[in-house]
Amino acid sequence: MPFLHQMNSNGVKFMQLWAKFWVGYLVLWLLLATGCGLWFYGQFPYLVYFLIPFVPLMLMGVVPASYGLIALQLQSWRTRIFLLVIYVLLVTLFLGAFPAYRNAHEAPENQGPYLSWASDPKTTMTVSWTTAAPSLGMVKWRSSEKEEFQIKMGNVETRFHHLSLTDLSPDTTYTYQIPELGTQSYLFNTAPAADDDFSFIAYGDNRPFGGISKHGAVFAAMEKTARIDEPIDFIINTGDLVENPGQGHGWQWYDFLNTIMPLAASHPYLVSLGNHEARGGTRYYDSYFDFGSPDPWYSMTYANVHFVFLSSEHDLNTESPQHTWLETDLEENAEKSRFIVVSFHQPLLTYSESHGRNEDLSRHELLMPVFRQHAVDLVLSGHVHFYEHLLLDGIHSVTTGGGGVLLWDKPAIGPKTIKTETAFHFCRITVTGDELRVRAERLDGSVIEEFIASRQRTLPVPG
Ligand SMILES: [Fe+2]
Repeated sequence: MPFLHQMNSNGVKFMQLWAKFWVGYLVLWLLLATGCGLWFYGQFPYLVYFLIPFVPLMLMGVVPASYGLIALQLQSWRTRIFLLVIYVLLVTLFLGAFPAYRNAHEAPENQGPYLSWASDPKTTMTVSWTTAAPSLGMVKWRSSEKEEFQIKMGNVETRFHHLSLTDLSPDTTYTYQIPELGTQSYLFNTAPAADDDFSFIAYGDNRPFGGISKHGAVFAAMEKTARIDEPIDFIINTGDLVENPGQGHGWQWYDFLNTIMPLAASHPYLVSLGNHEARGGTRYYDSYFDFGSPDPWYSMTYANVHFVFLSSEHDLNTESPQHTWLETDLEENAEKSRFIVVSFHQPLLTYSESHGRNEDLSRHELLMPVFRQHAVDLVLSGHVHFYEHLLLDGIHSVTTGGGGVLLWDKPAIGPKTIKTETAFHFCRITVTGDELRVRAERLDGSVIEEFIASRQRTLPVPG
């Protein structure tokens, strides 16, 4: 390099060697990452997982090497120092941005609202939101035909608000406002009184990994289909909303609420507890949600379809409180319901090698006898980061773990497999008369699979 003739020859050689080393290192990494990505996934979008280490590599080697070479070209020490300051500032900003964001959103803020049900979907609606400071909280609400707002006040000062509106009319649209959050009005519908058709979305595993999640893109696709293609009535998340629920990770709840808000302010959002929310206890999960049960298992009936939400993170043994509750709940509701849908985080069975393949069959052994007895139609789970549809003794088990977290689970085929694919996705589930239809969609709207989860109650029930 002739422009370096004025510089110390040892310094020039060192810089050239350093630059060559890092460029070579990156080229090697690129080749390895491409090879690994294609070998593991066979699809280019997943190469990103192997390319992520580029960022620290660039910061550590390529950027300073490039700076050094540029600086060597310059005659002026003043310009060299100026460039060095800019470089240090950029690296500091980059490295400091994430901790600053994390600290800024550690504590609950004025966020929401988001809806759920703590009681009968026909006549109630639970409105939730958070506030930066404890307050009693207030919801103003009215049916769309009325002018006057009614007011519901909380009775305990808190930063996590859950106010249930009661004595509502079925199949009715209501308007509500949260004065603490501003003057924006939101709408919701109560459940129909009869066996009407309806549609909902199920998905799971949106948590960030290393600060990265595609939840925003998944939710945007859900929002598009819900607003443009066909309306939906509510959303089920099969768990793993956050990577870590506790202190130092408040930003994850902040991001989660921000993402779900566009739909969850007008569509109830129901959750099965994931292992990541259960880390260190369920205190944070309990603070953010109220599904009307002191335990993380609950049920509801919507348009005569019975939904059961279990916790795969709690004891499911036959004598456990959860198992006893499940048996009682299905005895009371199974016969009179059109369909039964059960949601819990860790699936009955998976053929994913990275999640232990068939090693843990305890849920399968403990739950399947009850599911068979009461002819459950559809089981929704997550935990494994892909789409997997198994048929277990006539019961459709769908793992819908493509909600945003990195997809490291590889499709594998087992004897019960109907369909499997590693892709970001969600499931639209439509109830039409005697038909329960599941359609798994990729983010571009293309369909992974569509099937009918037939009414199992009419089939012979194995022993
Ligand atoms: Fe999980």
